[in-house]
Formats: sequence, structure tokens, C-alpha cells
Amino acid sequence: MNANQFAGELAGRHVVLGLSGGAACFKAAEFCRLLVKSGATVQVVMTEAACQFITPVAMQALSGRPVYVSQWDARPDNNMAHINLSREADAIVVAPASADFIAQLAQGRAGELLALLCLARPIARVPLLLGPAMNREMWAHPATQRNLQQVINDGAHLLGVAHGDQACGEFGDGRMLEAGELVEELIAFLAPKPLLGQRVVITAGPTFEAIDPVRGITNHSSGKMGFAVARAAREAGAEVTLVAGPVHLPTPRGVLRIDVQSARDMHAAAIAQVEDADIFVATAAVADWRPASAAEQKIKKDGSGEVPQLAFVENPDILAEIAHSPRAQAGDLFCVGFAAESENLKANAQAKRVRKGVPLLVANIGPATFGRDDNALLLVDDEGVMELPQASKRVLAQQLVAEIARRVSGLDA
Ligand code: C5P
Repeated sequence: MNANQFAGELAGRHVVLGLSGGAACFKAAEFCRLLVKSGATVQVVMTEAACQFITPVAMQALSGRPVYVSQWDARPDNNMAHINLSREADAIVVAPASADFIAQLAQGRAGELLALLCLARPIARVPLLLGPAMNREMWAHPATQRNLQQVINDGAHLLGVAHGDQACGEFGDGRMLEAGELVEELIAFLAPKPLLGQRVVITAGPTFEAIDPVRGITNHSSGKMGFAVARAAREAGAEVTLVAGPVHLPTPRGVLRIDVQSARDMHAAAIAQVEDADIFVATAAVADWRPASAAEQKIKKDGSGEVPQLAFVENPDILAEIAHSPRAQAGDLFCVGFAAESENLKANAQAKRVRKGVPLLVANIGPATFGRDDNALLLVDDEGVMELPQASKRVLAQQLVAEIARRVSGLDA
């Protein structure tokens, strides 16, 4: 886990990190470290049970603040840790949230400081997020599911659980999310939601056009920009489908990913997905041509010195086709294209926007961006051009999504 990947993302946020009892407490230590690296200030509160699994000393060292365990802790001047701690939080995250702790919340019990401060929090202002962790049978038990439903109805936000190996040796649902996943979920939760209720389809990465079963033609697109746009759109509240060419990138949380190889696969997947979408963003570097026919068997070198002759045919232009569809033309599907140019960025981008028939085209210098983590963008629409200066693809994706949301809500108005 690269701790710097979240650098600054939670700057200025104050998080109360609650630990209840469970083997997953060791992951809460890493979670705490990542929160601090993300710029958050972290106040740890532990139950007595949590102290059986990890010490308050360890959590104090990682958070840089004394840990609270007891509601009778006399350190606060007013002796009301539950009030003070809950009032200053931007979010309370309980991870691990044990079955017993969730049961306490469901009943509104307040026998320990952590449950007490959850109950005492200003419910409209301070969100409560839960990262459950328990054995699969405990997770599946009707009592746990009933309690979870109750705490969700009462305003808590469930961060979900993972499926896999459990500390007890069993395998199934109920594992706590990994530390990085928890941070990603918290960042997403706290992000503004200008795309709430929108369905977004994004193409990303290169395509691979087969020559024979072992060879093919592809390009240097890493997919990083498209994946960053998918993550930012999901954080902005959209339901996101990512149609990805062959890339080795992790799927952003909460995003539906459809893996494809060739331009024709990508075309078929994108056409099917945009049917009920509101926004289509084409970031993929789609091959313009493919070998006219892929050989069924590997083409052999026979020693004669003769080289195979490849004939090419043109691939479908996914973006142009979708942008010219009746729904897009009627304004029901907002299409965004990308252009990787090597010169004359502005003039080429303006011409491409018209040719593709899209309201918004995002241009960049192709060779300068492929595979890199940062970039600079030029947004071209019918009103002119807008520069998004050099920044990480993460930041540029957030800015682009905000620009798309502004235009889409403008259309709706
Ligand atoms: O024409 P050019 O390839 O430069 O256009 C780039 C834009 O068009 C990108 O948004 C890309 O995803 C999209 N495109 C496409 N299908 C193609 C070629 C490009 O969707 N066959």
C-alpha cells in the first residue's frame, strides 16, 4: 500500500476512529496511519474489548494523540469526553465494528464511551460510518443483519465487508475492508455529490487488435486518466461503469468494470451500456485500424525470408457513433471526448470536437501524458477553451468531473 496515494485528500478533516473488539484491530492500526498520511487529525476511541487485541499505546503512537477508552476518563475539564469528542468530528468511523457493538448501536445503548459518543453525536451534522468485522456466521446471523438494517435506518453508513479468509480459519463474508479501501470509502463519502443519480459510462485504456493468437497491435495508453475519472465520478455520486481495455490497474471502489480487448469488443460494450446512461466519457485510446483478419494459428517464420503482409480495416469510432445517436442529439446523453495531440493542441481539439459531435472535448499532448501520473488538460466547448494546468491525474479527474456536472446540471435546468 502506497501511503502517499492519499496525500492531502483528508486535509483539515477531523476523524474519530473507533475500535471495537476483533482480530481486525490490527488493520485499524494501518487505517489510522493512512488517515494521518491523508492529512486528517485522528482521535482514537477504543472499547475494552478492542484493548484485548491492540494496545492504546500503539494507537496513540500512530495517531499522535492520547486514546480514550473510558467514559469516566477525568482528563476533559468538563468530564464529558462523549460530548467533546463527538462535537469536533467531521466523521466518526468505527472499524472494526463488531457484531456486539452494532447490536449496542441498534438498541441505542451507551454502556461504554464509544457507544455513548455515537449516541450523543449531533446526528444531522456528524456522520457515523461502520466497517464491520466478524466471523461469516455472525455476519450472516439474522440478528446481525436485523441490527445492521436498524442502524442504517437510524442514519449510520455501512462501509461494507469483504469476502475471504477469516482469522478463525473459515472463509466467507464478514472480513473488514483493507485499510486503503476504508480510506478510499471515507474520501468518497465526504466528497460533494453533484452527480448523484446520474449514470456514467467511461471507456479507458488501450485496445488490443489481434494479428494471430499470440501477437497483436496496441498502444501506450495506461488507462490512468480514465480510471481516475471513474473514481471521481463515483465519488461525485454517480453510478459508474468502466469499459476497460487491457490494463493492470485496480478497479476503483464502487465502480462496475467490464474488461474488453479489441476496439470491436469495446464498441459493443459501450453501445450496450450507454443505452440508459446520462453521461459518456471516452478516454480510451482506441486503435483506429485492426488487421483485416486475425490468423487462427500463430504465423510462423519459415526461413524463406518472406515477411507476412498485413492488411488493415478501420475500427468503428465509438465516440462519434454514440455522440451522433438520437439520445445524445436530444441532449439526454452528455458525451465527452478526449484528444491526444502531438502539436497545435487548441486548433486540433476544436476541429475534433466538431468532427466527433461532442459538446465537450478534453485535449492533451499525447506523448507527454501516456503512462504518467500527471498531466495538463485543455477543455474545449462551444464557448471556448479552458485550461486545467499541470496536476495529478487524480486532481484533473476531479476538476473534469466538476466541469461535466456543471454542464449537465445546466442542461437539466
Ligand atoms: O480520432 P481520435 O482517436 O483522435 O479521437 C479520440 C477520441 O475519440 C477519444 O475520446 C477516444 O476515446 C475516441 N475514440 C473512440 N473510438 C475510436 C477512436 C477514438 O471512441 N475508434
